Amino acid sequence: MVSIQAIRGMPDVLPDACNLRAQLLRAASEIIESYGFREISLPLLEKTELFARSIGEVTDIVEKEMYTFDDRNGESMTLRPEATAGVVRAVVQHSLAHGGAQKLWLAGPMFRYERPQKGRYRQFNQINVEAFGLAGPDIDVELIAIGARLWKRLGVSHALTLELNSLGDGEGRQRHRAALVEYLRGHADVLDADATRRLESNPLRVLDSKNPDMQAMLAGAPQLPDFWDAESREHFETLTARLDALGIAWTLNPRLVRGLDYYSRTVFEWTTTELGAQNAVCSGGRYDGLVEQIGGKPTPAVGFAIGVERLVALMEAAGAAPEPVADVFLAALGGAAEAQAPVLAEQLRDALPGLRLLVNAGGGSFKAQLKRADRSGAQFALVLGDAEVESGTVQVKPLRVREDQQAVAQAALADFIRKQWSAAPAS
Ligand code: HAM
Repeated sequence: MVSIQAIRGMPDVLPDACNLRAQLLRAASEIIESYGFREISLPLLEKTELFARSIGEVTDIVEKEMYTFDDRNGESMTLRPEATAGVVRAVVQHSLAHGGAQKLWLAGPMFRYERPQKGRYRQFNQINVEAFGLAGPDIDVELIAIGARLWKRLGVSHALTLELNSLGDGEGRQRHRAALVEYLRGHADVLDADATRRLESNPLRVLDSKNPDMQAMLAGAPQLPDFWDAESREHFETLTARLDALGIAWTLNPRLVRGLDYYSRTVFEWTTTELGAQNAVCSGGRYDGLVEQIGGKPTPAVGFAIGVERLVALMEAAGAAPEPVADVFLAALGGAAEAQAPVLAEQLRDALPGLRLLVNAGGGSFKAQLKRADRSGAQFALVLGDAEVESGTVQVKPLRVREDQQAVAQAALADFIRKQWSAAPAS
């Protein structure tokens, strides 16, 4: 019979990659929460209308990438292609931003029907950080500082560049749009089919085109920074001055516009040259109009999302390794020892919560058990034979350093391991 394979673009995440992802999530949640953000958990399915209204009708995501279907009641549902729309929906529905700022984060899978390739999947994970009710550049700075701190913790700072732009606001944005449309019309002969279609409906997105044949023409297109209103300029200048004060390097990318329609003012992307074509590892910006657009009171907002798979790939490239399966391996030889092993193991688990203790299963010779101990990555093996059961001891055999094994009384074993364990280099 033909075996069943996973759906294209929806990869299984095997234990080594899962472990790196867990390391990333632990570091991210610790850092994000240390800035006062609280976790929120939202459904994977939302009404289709939410995404059409927030991300924008004329975007790649809404036009061609959503997993949309009618439920049994004939209502159109969509698997979330991103999380910001859902967070805004929840903030409005539960009045979370009434009476002050609300700082939220969430992690989980997103779904986009894109052409799968390295770094681009149809089911992928994001970590989202979103702040509501704060209009000033101080919170933009904080969000960027969170990213910078996380990259440093994970050892990938060297691989990431911060690109910044501002879409401006109000009248300046309208003037830019008009100038852009006029410019693009004047170059209609170079526009590809996508750009021609977007010329009227969403001209800003044309700036984002990767088509090599349009790059020379786009380089001469009207630039957003030339149309910034005074407030947007001041916002941008304060933001960048504060980033400078924090020692966070940035570059202005006047063509950075982002692929979702809800942004206003600040937009940013952390990009890398290490992952091929899929170079954005983390992206975000301000969306000051979105809460009102979804039916809430006007509430400024800003946020970003990390692409988890891409960040894990960067961690791997920087030499991050999965943590070993075990800190300690317990080998048991002979009937009496096999009977005592689980009792001893549970006592150790009581005394040392968090200790990764792998107990030999399935019998085997001394040599076979030590081989398993070695493969588990454990720092040392505890060897329990019938003689040790009789004398109330355990042989402790270091596996990673050249030291002799020694007999330790079972009553003193937890203390002994605690000392060795805390002395072991953190993995
Ligand atoms: P986005 O740029 O569409 O923004 O996605 C954010 C990040 O998710 C990207 O930088 C990338 O790392 C990752 N990503 C996107 N698509 C894929 C894919 N098909 N496979 C793997 N990784 C992917 C948003 O989603 C906005 N909601 C971000 C935001 C939050 N803005 C404000 N708050």
